[in-house]
Amino acid sequence: MARTLTKSNAHWHKANRRLPLGVASNFRYWGEDRTIYVKEGRGARLTDLDGNVYVDYRLGYGPSILGYAHPEVDAAAREGMKVGGVFALSTERELAVAERIARMVPAAEMVRYSNSGTEAVMAALRLARAYTQKDDYLILEGGYHGLFDAAMWYTPMENWSRQGEPEVKPYSEGIPVGIRSYAHFVQANDLNALEATIQKHADRIACLLIEPIMGNCLGIAADPEYLRAARALCDRYGIVMIIDEVKTGFRVARGGVQELYGIKADLCTFAKCVGNGYPLSVLAGREDIMRKLGKGVAHGGTFTAHSVSLAAAEKCLDILENTDALERVARFGERLKAGITQILNARGIVHSFVGHASMFGLYFDERPPRNYRDWKNSDYHFYDAVARVLHDEGVLCEPDSREPWFISAAHDESCLTDTLKGFTTAVDTVLNAAAPSVKA
Ligand SMILES: Cc1ncc(COP(=O)(O)O)c(C=O)c1O
Repeated sequence: MARTLTKSNAHWHKANRRLPLGVASNFRYWGEDRTIYVKEGRGARLTDLDGNVYVDYRLGYGPSILGYAHPEVDAAAREGMKVGGVFALSTERELAVAERIARMVPAAEMVRYSNSGTEAVMAALRLARAYTQKDDYLILEGGYHGLFDAAMWYTPMENWSRQGEPEVKPYSEGIPVGIRSYAHFVQANDLNALEATIQKHADRIACLLIEPIMGNCLGIAADPEYLRAARALCDRYGIVMIIDEVKTGFRVARGGVQELYGIKADLCTFAKCVGNGYPLSVLAGREDIMRKLGKGVAHGGTFTAHSVSLAAAEKCLDILENTDALERVARFGERLKAGITQILNARGIVHSFVGHASMFGLYFDERPPRNYRDWKNSDYHFYDAVARVLHDEGVLCEPDSREPWFISAAHDESCLTDTLKGFTTAVDTVLNAAAPSVKA
């Protein structure tokens, strides 16, 4: 497919005069000549300003679990608009949605709303600190929990020489280095390290913030035994276990990753799929902890529980709970993985998949990674090169190999055919170009 981005490029030059990097979020800037401006999204496809149509596996970083412009969710949102917005007062629907969440997620004994995943995780951390009267927290290396200072530490793994410990850096300028000392990092699936860190700092650690399937790190999955042992350690040491389900929630199962693993968080956070893309996030958890909200712990916000988002969430969760949407999502993911494997195997390209079928990472090494450091074993330069051609071929995956591919219930047979055709072209194009090294 000969893709031109003439109109997107022209728009970028105009936008850059008023919007830093020409975009509304740093992550949407893909360079002067490859930044895409969307005209519309329908189902599992996006159309850009130039009329290029893409099968989309980014789904806005996950939210569109039912597909873009879902007729029933949008109709519900329009009904929600009739309620009138936000009032600095509550509406009845807040309870209706909370009741459904509690039914789908047993850990959600009580529920509060916010607008973004960041806000929900930020509130969870504050609440855990208040409940335990401790300040420190544990995070998994490679985990991402939003754009607030306490969670914005990252490990530039691409620079790590495999000797000693990789450095941990603030993800942005403007983050006070003084707050770094509150965070303790552990590698996924290393139970000994987790236990040792907890034993060493137990008197200071308020919570473990964990994504059992790391949605920003290939979908690296916790071993069930690791997660069970982490749960037991939290119980033993009075540490609040916060399961961040911003990406996995209402996606990998009706009850999220907690249902998959048969584990209950003390607090959990949801956002992306709650309202199929309408901004609504959720902080939920144990009643004795949640009851501290308003009794010493601040939580709120002008736009919290907007009538449009709430109505969209009510419909979206109804569909997710009562139809086979999530089974279809997973089935498509399995078929896509099988198709990709066929193409790669035929060319002798060693690879594996990580995560859940509804959000999987494509990894160019034989054995799937068990922690972020393993990402270095993947031939990620090959991934990067393939992703670039895929975009030209009308298949939109994340250019960064650490981000999983997201599936929606709107991905259908034609999406599968188009994707595998594009994938074949992309792989062959990269193989025929001399530069990248491919492990065969
Ligand atoms: C696991 C996780 N937590 C929190 C967030 C932050 O959510 P938001 O971007 O809605 O603020 C994200 C975003 O990708 C996420 O994946």
